[in-house]
Amino acid sequence: DGFPAVRLFNQGYSYTYDDVIFLPHYIDFPTDAVQLATKLTRNVSLSIPCVSSPMDTVTESSMAVAMAALGGIGIVHSNNTASDQAALIRQAKSHRIPFVSDPIFVSPSDSITSVDEFASSPCILVTESGTKKSKFLGVVTKSDWQALNDKEVKVRDYMTKSLASVPSSYNFEEVAAYLAAKDLEFVPLVNEKDGEVVDVVTAADVERIRGFPKLGMPSMGPDGKFMVGASIGTRESDKERLEELVKAGINVVVLDSSQGNSIYQIEMIKYAKKMYPELDVIGGNVVTMYQAQNLIQAGVDGLRVGMGSGSICTTQEVCAVGRGQATAVYKVSSIAEQSGVPIIADGGISNSGHIVKALVLGASTVMMGSFLAGSNEAPGAYEYQGGRRIKKYRGMGSLEAMTKGSDARYLGDTAKLKIAQGVVGAVADKGSVLKFIPYTMQAVKQGFQDLGASSLQSAHDLLKSGVLRQEVRTGAAQVEGGVHGLVSYEKKSF
Ligand code: XMP
Repeated sequence: DGFPAVRLFNQGYSYTYDDVIFLPHYIDFPTDAVQLATKLTRNVSLSIPCVSSPMDTVTESSMAVAMAALGGIGIVHSNNTASDQAALIRQAKSHRIPFVSDPIFVSPSDSITSVDEFASSPCILVTESGTKKSKFLGVVTKSDWQALNDKEVKVRDYMTKSLASVPSSYNFEEVAAYLAAKDLEFVPLVNEKDGEVVDVVTAADVERIRGFPKLGMPSMGPDGKFMVGASIGTRESDKERLEELVKAGINVVVLDSSQGNSIYQIEMIKYAKKMYPELDVIGGNVVTMYQAQNLIQAGVDGLRVGMGSGSICTTQEVCAVGRGQATAVYKVSSIAEQSGVPIIADGGISNSGHIVKALVLGASTVMMGSFLAGSNEAPGAYEYQGGRRIKKYRGMGSLEAMTKGSDARYLGDTAKLKIAQGVVGAVADKGSVLKFIPYTMQAVKQGFQDLGASSLQSAHDLLKSGVLRQEVRTGAAQVEGGVHGLVSYEKKSF
């Protein structure tokens, strides 16, 4: 009944996740017995198979902290200067609790001219020099600012001085108790040694963190801090970037390239492994066994799989290369497994079923962009469009992102003209990843249970041995498998 994977994926077709469907197997354990613990790379283990994509609308410090708190990992993007990227890593590593707000700092002699400054936090912090690295003096709240007639007024003339703060050594419950006792909307956490603000904790943060079901151990590095990854390119200047990132404490590096099987990447893999033997290197992207073999030979510790399957990608249309993501994951993992190199299924995830498919077909983790964009933890402010709250999400190969510097991922060093391989769009507000990732993982566990797989390893074994069967869905079967035949239902109140 149905086809074993080896037959299904050797017919000359490129299948996406939606094309294939698994046939249910036999259940002899409860959902909660399913273990999703996994490996990101040869030496980096995670409690959940979730990785946030190195994109400038997905992973900066808040996302990295939240992903690590959940037991996954965030890869901080490199569409910035090396020192800005290193600062994001340090910031993520300075957190012990997944607070969202990335405080904005001003000096007493600054003026705040736009309400946008309050987009990511209900308050702006005033420090001596207007940067994080100086003494905390007070705050300006959104309502203080809105009450001003003249928006050019200097911050020093209306800021609230010597506001309540708590020591940065407070743990989550201590901060929460303080906010509740004083009935405050937010409180800065201040380092007692130098008076610097480490974090701002809002009442909304407390609620968000309280609500998040623990899935497993948070991802902690050997430094005792949250694990954080970072991406780099393969140019000469990326060697200096890597050095800064290593100093900032990254736990893994991703060589970010849309076609990873290149002399540039192979040289960078060898360089990174020689210079930083303790640091695991993820290569890619690849979609074929040949590409994968080359990077494995060069010494990668993990492989990122996907070309043109991302929600904002136009690579397949622009360059005529790529592969259906289900086929790519299956093919690459079948070769990488022999060398003990874990696979990251990158792109094309838009529901929990896609995660189940990626993991069963051989991936050890999934990397997500659009699925995580639009969350509280994604960079950028919410906007309103047609009555909906949205956040911007853009491809790193979009002209807009490349103008900021991400062109290295899509161009050789010699290309003079920029050709877009991605688009700019927006995704709906999803709330906090701390809430929706646990629900998603529960759904993934149910998928595993239906297949009779109690862990990633057992799923891979069932697939390889041919016990697990699958089929290709016709267009009609795909329609049938989604919600269909309904008219929209609006609840009437009488
Ligand atoms: P999802 O589907 O999760 O995909 O939104 C995220 C992945 O897409 C890749 N990516 C791009 N691919 N043009 C592309 O062809 C782009 O502009 C682009 N930006 C990101 C990347 O692998 C990411 O993890």
